[in-house]
Amino acid sequence: MASVKEHYDSHLAPLYTWISGGAAGPRARFSELLNAHHLVPSRPGAPALDLGAGSGFQSLPLASAGYAVTAVDLSETLLAELSANAAAEHLTVSTILGDLCAVMRDVASSAPEVIVCMGDTLTHLDTLTQVEQLLHDAATTLAPGGHLLISFRDYHTSRREGSDRFIPVRSDDNRIFTCFLDYAETHVAVHDIVHTRETTGWKMSLGVYPKLRLDPSRVRTCLQSAGLKLVRDDLQAGLATFVARRPAAR
Ligand SMILES: C[S@@+](CC[C@H](N)C(=O)[O-])C[C@H]1O[C@@H](n2cnc3c(N)ncnc32)[C@H](O)[C@@H]1O
Repeated sequence: MASVKEHYDSHLAPLYTWISGGAAGPRARFSELLNAHHLVPSRPGAPALDLGAGSGFQSLPLASAGYAVTAVDLSETLLAELSANAAAEHLTVSTILGDLCAVMRDVASSAPEVIVCMGDTLTHLDTLTQVEQLLHDAATTLAPGGHLLISFRDYHTSRREGSDRFIPVRSDDNRIFTCFLDYAETHVAVHDIVHTRETTGWKMSLGVYPKLRLDPSRVRTCLQSAGLKLVRDDLQAGLATFVARRPAAR
């Protein structure tokens, strides 16, 4: 099985925004989340950190809202796309190519007002211990009164069986993207199957990588024991979303 980085480099990164149905919908949904929780920078250029930023579905709305955003990702292709999107909209986003767990430790003194780890990035980490350490580091790094925003797919609570494990993700006239999930005890092996139309016919390519079967209740407990107050905690259509606030004074 490929590592997460290998899988994005060889397979997923150039298709990521297309698979998501384009950038407009995800960006609008994230802006709605910011608005719903009245998240605005306390001053122009207050810091925000986007962990596993991808092509910028969260970074660009944060920059538009006036945050000084640092976007972290291990995919050079996706960070290049993010930077091009930001430049096209006359926005500035700093990028760091690297492992988000290491970056989280390095920026411990920067006190971001917002830390974001959304769109299933958490399940890309290797172990539950890494997730718990990351959440703990984020909680202690946030500025007092700051917010941590998380979303991830719940592969823990229920398990797809039989042909339900085949998920038609996206298609157009020239490409078909299908996902197949193979469940193990702690992880699910995600098979990304791409059919591409070529002059000689359809060509198939396949990439497989692991995702964590992360239990939302473990994440909830971890956020609470790190001293954060949950201001959103929901599970809709298999997607867990948490917004957690660090108290203004401890
Ligand atoms: C499913 S995408 C989510 C991207 C974006 N946040 C969104 O909502 O569309 C997961 C992203 O996390 C990145 N990623 C996964 N593990 C990482 C790690 N350990 N360090 C940095 N980036 C990572 C991947 O390269 C990918 O861009």
